[in-house]
Amino acid sequence: MDFQSTPPAGGDPVHALSEDTWRDVIAAMDRTYSELVDYQNLLERQNQELDEIRGFMASVLASVSDLLIVVDTARLIERTGGAIATILGTTSDPAPGSKLADLLEPHARDMLFAVLDQVIRDRQPRMVEVEFATADGPTPLEVSVSPRLDTRGRSRGVVLVGRPVGELRSAYRELEASHMALQQAQARLVQQEKMASLGHLVAGVAHELNNPISFVYANTHALEKYTARFETYFDAVQAGTSRPELVALREELRLDRTVSNLREAIRGAKEGAERVRDIVEDLRRLSAGGGGEPVPFDLVTTARTAADWVRRGTKTPVEIVFDSDPVVQAYGTPGPVQQIVMNLVQNAIDALADAKDARIVLTVEKSEGQAVLRVADNGPGIDADKAISIFDPFFTTKPVGKGTGLGLSISHRTAEENNGSLTLLRTGAEGSTFELTLPLSEGA
Ligand SMILES: Nc1ncnc2c1ncn2[C@@H]1O[C@H](COP(=O)(O)OP(=O)(O)OP(=O)(O)O)[C@@H](O)[C@H]1O
Ligand SMILES: [Mg+2]
Repeated sequence: MDFQSTPPAGGDPVHALSEDTWRDVIAAMDRTYSELVDYQNLLERQNQELDEIRGFMASVLASVSDLLIVVDTARLIERTGGAIATILGTTSDPAPGSKLADLLEPHARDMLFAVLDQVIRDRQPRMVEVEFATADGPTPLEVSVSPRLDTRGRSRGVVLVGRPVGELRSAYRELEASHMALQQAQARLVQQEKMASLGHLVAGVAHELNNPISFVYANTHALEKYTARFETYFDAVQAGTSRPELVALREELRLDRTVSNLREAIRGAKEGAERVRDIVEDLRRLSAGGGGEPVPFDLVTTARTAADWVRRGTKTPVEIVFDSDPVVQAYGTPGPVQQIVMNLVQNAIDALADAKDARIVLTVEKSEGQAVLRVADNGPGIDADKAISIFDPFFTTKPVGKGTGLGLSISHRTAEENNGSLTLLRTGAEGSTFELTLPLSEGA
């Protein structure tokens, strides 16, 4: 058959094609077919990859312990994931297309929606606490709200990732409660420490008061005796005794000396009473609780009083030397500052218990715009490994019942409350020196 020879016009088109043309058509069909097969293979591979990705995503999402919600710009749920059913206490995930609002406590809706709008507008993620309505009732979740954009950078909604804060919260509340209990216990201990150091004082105070009181007592005794002599004399005058007899009686009663003794006794009694008044005043200052308002005060006097009282309360023979400016006007609360000095001197005395020629040198001076007090002892010093802990509460090397280990820690805090500082200036075989600094009084 000759395809080429007679292509009859209007005849059968198949028969109208030449043999070459047919060959071309068949070749083209072959190509197309093999392209189709290739394309199908590609599609199948891509499908498989997609399946793998989907499976991977699903397994990742399923293992997330947070709740995941993808929301569109109309606040409808597009997808969910993570532990959403567990967290909400439902048997299945919320259906796509359902309202986000239905998952929330009514009062939380407006707040969260405002945040959603803001995140969509600013394209910046935000954290919020939102109450979800769960099977267990209202449950606060810590939710991160992130913007979701499509490949062309257009906003498609947001992604919410949330986890319950309840446990965190109650753990935090418990922590807070135990912190408060700790603070109360600490306050009680501080008070006990104050009582203890006050108790320490009592010995010194008793001794201190004993002196002037026995002084007053002795003088009033003398006053009584002298009064009796004058009464005898006045009685004789009253009885009309003769002048020479009166002169003799005056001699016998030693009235002239008695008059000057009387003055002495009155002065002595007055001095004693004044000393008692001063001691009481010191005590009142010392026991003034938190310390009251800061005032200008002489650090030298405060240090002397503190050292005197500690010395009187101790049996350790110690020489306490003052090497001071005459007056150093500091600004702070004198009562608590006095306690700091007492703690430092008491520590020094304790450290000197076994020392020969035990000696404490107290220096009070103005230095670099500050009031500075140093308490130096020639005790055994503090080992480096202990020195780092001495300001810690309850750190003590003293036997149970002797030290609470609060002295330095409270003193340190008191110094800071007074805008000053308390440091261990140096320590070693030749002894330890503690330094207290306080602000100088404005007028100083
Ligand atoms: N001058 C010092 N020399 C040697 N060691 C000292 C000196 N001052 C303090 N320390 C050491 O620091 C520790 C803590 O002192 P801190 O005053 O805080 O407590 P404490 O004296 O042991 O007890 P508390 O003061 O409550 O009675 C002491 O136990 C002691 O080991
Ligand atoms: Mg102490």
